[in-house]
Amino acid sequence: MTTRAHRPGATMGDQPTDVPPGLDPERLAGMLDEERARWIEARPKSAALRERARRSQVHGTPQHWINQFPPPVPLTVERAAGARLYDVDGHEYADFGLAGTAALWGHDHPAVVAALRDQLGRGSVTLWSHEDHVWVTEELHHRFGLPFWQFTVSASDANRFALLLAKVTTGRRRILMFNRAYHGSLELTAAVLSPDGEVIPQPGVEPNGVDVRETTKVVEFNDLDALERALAPGDVAAVLAEPVMTNGGAVIRPEPGFHAALRDLTRRTGTLLIIDETQTIPAGPGGCTREFGLEPDLITMGKCIAGGVPAGLYGMSDTVAAAAARYTEHGDGGLGSTMASGPLAVRGMRAVLGEVMTDDTYARMNRLGERYERDIAAVIARHDLPWHVGRLGGRVSYAFTPDPPRDAGRLYPSVGSAARKALWLYMANRGIVVNPMSGGGLMSPLTAETDVERHGALFAAAIGALTGRNGR
Ligand SMILES: Cc1ncc(COP(=O)(O)O)c(C=O)c1O
Repeated sequence: MTTRAHRPGATMGDQPTDVPPGLDPERLAGMLDEERARWIEARPKSAALRERARRSQVHGTPQHWINQFPPPVPLTVERAAGARLYDVDGHEYADFGLAGTAALWGHDHPAVVAALRDQLGRGSVTLWSHEDHVWVTEELHHRFGLPFWQFTVSASDANRFALLLAKVTTGRRRILMFNRAYHGSLELTAAVLSPDGEVIPQPGVEPNGVDVRETTKVVEFNDLDALERALAPGDVAAVLAEPVMTNGGAVIRPEPGFHAALRDLTRRTGTLLIIDETQTIPAGPGGCTREFGLEPDLITMGKCIAGGVPAGLYGMSDTVAAAAARYTEHGDGGLGSTMASGPLAVRGMRAVLGEVMTDDTYARMNRLGERYERDIAAVIARHDLPWHVGRLGGRVSYAFTPDPPRDAGRLYPSVGSAARKALWLYMANRGIVVNPMSGGGLMSPLTAETDVERHGALFAAAIGALTGRNGR
């Protein structure tokens, strides 16, 4: 069934958008139009800034995502505090998007703010060693199990270097990723499966000088047969995987036995395993690696790890570390960046690891996440919708499928759909910002319980309006 909803601007989706089962297409189209108009009308300053930005920014926005996601006029933030955003037009929002996990600990966690303020008076970047580096890499070894760690400026860079080191270690040139996974702005991972199962460049990225058909194998998450076939020739340097998929339109969990089989298949074929924990830190103080007892060869992360200062990290086994040492033996190899591991970023990491990523923090985020999930589940049950809600610690999302989604291939078209846009706008017009891709929410230790309650009430009202069973 196709919606007649107006869908201006680019969307993340490259397939036709369906109206989720259980929703009334007419009501959905009406909500989208109404909420768009309401959003624009209440944001004259944001709109004026947008017009100015169009003359000096490629998309009229600092990042192209902002242009692709729901609001017709970008949310233009004047300041952020706690787990709230304040826009230039005087609106306040409970922020459940949290900068796509980059602001997971809230926008001004007191421990992070105090540490960064102190460090700003002591130097931000020196290119020399500091005691905090040693503290951080020892702590990461303890939490995540891998002995050696390197600093980067972002999670994208952590993945870039991890893939490079996998090739250096194995002497192989190809990599494998799961369909519709996102690992950052890397040419190598800008690949998807076509409907007939061929690897093709992600729509829109060609030509970029990289032929992903040569460099990258892609299989669906949880498809062990396809994985086995892809690894069998022994030409893949590494599988790069999120332990739980978070970017495919909802939280997609590994099926029982998936990780054990993934590790077994990679070991048997001499393929390295890179676990990308960038989005899965909400699972626990040692990410999914610790929660699930994973044994990867490399781990990558970034986003929230330095409390808001750009930073990334990758950890590696003894074998990979030995290859890294050889690769950089003469000093010109290029595994770093002058801006990686500056004392400001590393002080942020020390504050996050030492004072924020504690059992108490996780207990609070989990509790809020449970409530958020329960509220969504209650609405799904009340309206008898064939939808599924899932949670990974303080990360909650729902899918327009009756069963837990097992791969992103079928789920991804919901990203950028009229339903996601209408629901995002409905909530944001009433002071709640959710994740624009999945409609889900992230809990921070600074998230107010009352905001979680408000989210539940608004979600119920929005779905009531869309099913027509609660009136509008
Ligand atoms: C799983 C995953 N890995 C890596 C990245 C890249 O992070 P960044 O854009 O901060 O470099 C992202 C970004 O969304 C991500 O979701």
